[in-house]
Amino acid sequence: MPIPNETLDEIRAAVDAVHIMGQHTDLKQSGTRWKGLCPFHDERTPSFTVDAEQGLYHCFGCRAGGDVIDFVQQAEGLDFLEAVRFLADEAGIALPDEHGASADARKRRESLKAAVRVAARYFYNVRCKADAGAPARTYLQGRHFDEDALKRFGIGYAPDGWERLLTHAQEQHISVDVLEDAGLVIERPNGRGYYDRFRGRVIFPIFSHRGEVLAFAGRHVDEGAGDPDTPKYVNSPATPLYDKSSILYGFYQARTALTDTREAWVVEGYTDVLALHGAGIRHAVATCGTALTDEHLKALMQRVDHVMLLFDGDEAGDSGSDRAMQRCIRHGIDASACTLPDGHDPCSYLQEHGADELRAYAQEHRLVLHDVAARKVGTGWGDAIPEGIQSARIDRAADALADELRTHFGADAPAVASALASKMNATTDHAFIEQAQ
Ligand code: UTP
Ligand code: MN
Repeated sequence: MPIPNETLDEIRAAVDAVHIMGQHTDLKQSGTRWKGLCPFHDERTPSFTVDAEQGLYHCFGCRAGGDVIDFVQQAEGLDFLEAVRFLADEAGIALPDEHGASADARKRRESLKAAVRVAARYFYNVRCKADAGAPARTYLQGRHFDEDALKRFGIGYAPDGWERLLTHAQEQHISVDVLEDAGLVIERPNGRGYYDRFRGRVIFPIFSHRGEVLAFAGRHVDEGAGDPDTPKYVNSPATPLYDKSSILYGFYQARTALTDTREAWVVEGYTDVLALHGAGIRHAVATCGTALTDEHLKALMQRVDHVMLLFDGDEAGDSGSDRAMQRCIRHGIDASACTLPDGHDPCSYLQEHGADELRAYAQEHRLVLHDVAARKVGTGWGDAIPEGIQSARIDRAADALADELRTHFGADAPAVASALASKMNATTDHAFIEQAQ
């Protein structure tokens, strides 16, 4: 549902442009305007100006400019609706939500968010200081997770018992049907009351990309001791707040590192993200137990130019990595993939070898897009590369690709190049074919 123009005007009027823009660059008042270094290009003398009265910005250097909504889009890497929502939150103005839902649905989402917040705080407090949190403290210490990272990720513990959270939340006046909709409790068979979904598990809160807790994953702590049929993780179901196909675990905590390094490491597990961040590799994110989706990639592309897939050294990891690579190609994303040795995942590799060795390993063993493409050519894998691929990126890869092909295929390089080109729906006069001669 489009947002009415009056609401947009109301938002523009309600927010303080100097405050919003001042979070991205130091602004100094100069007459009726404010000046600072442009946040959108490198410069030493300020050519970025803000007209506080009109709520407009303009850079004389790179010609960026617009109103406060444009600014938030550009600075935060959001689309129009996301930027409007961001500013509406800032100004406390109610919007019809993204599904065009009514005020009622919006209220419902707010109460679900409140319930999830209460749960997150409860789990966190139990993990940090309650007697009932001792198993989690022992478990997490045993795995040597960094204390600061545990805090930044809000890692908690759901104590063993059937109604621990349920009781706590009801004391906080949260109703059972809200808890159920938020995925926190489950109705007992025969409709005789409810019980906690998460019991005796270390809790990984799943944050939206903007930092609100939406859902949880809970990992059991009694390795080997419990029922072998007990799954390693219990996860929140899909809820009105949580759709795992659009959320990357750790994205919120990684956001600055993603923008700074322009690179993302995509891993498979929650513990991998936690361990990597703890070891100072803060541009790591994971999917929440799903394949990498277009939505995940769109979120990443706002902040990074390169994606490195660092999947587990097992069969599932390999095929997951290949599929993720195909999806990157489809989006024209510069990607590389690295498979870890000996059944390691990034968390176990870090524990055994440390961050420096992991970085070195990844650097040495990563396969870039054209390596993988060349290796897979002829296996039918290339069929998945559609027309949409940006030829500009193929051009950039052409030099390197030609070299690779010569190394791998020697005299066959030109033939392979043609095959590769046709798989890529590229025209046959693409640079790398000539270069591969
Ligand atoms: P892993 O089994 O590799 O778990 O599954 P992990 O996160 O690395 O945990 P540790 O280090 O062994 O303790 C990778 C991801 O697959 C999903 C989770 O998202 C997990 O992080 N998964 C796995 C589930 O959703 N349920 C499961 O039972 C197992
Ligand atoms: Mn793992």
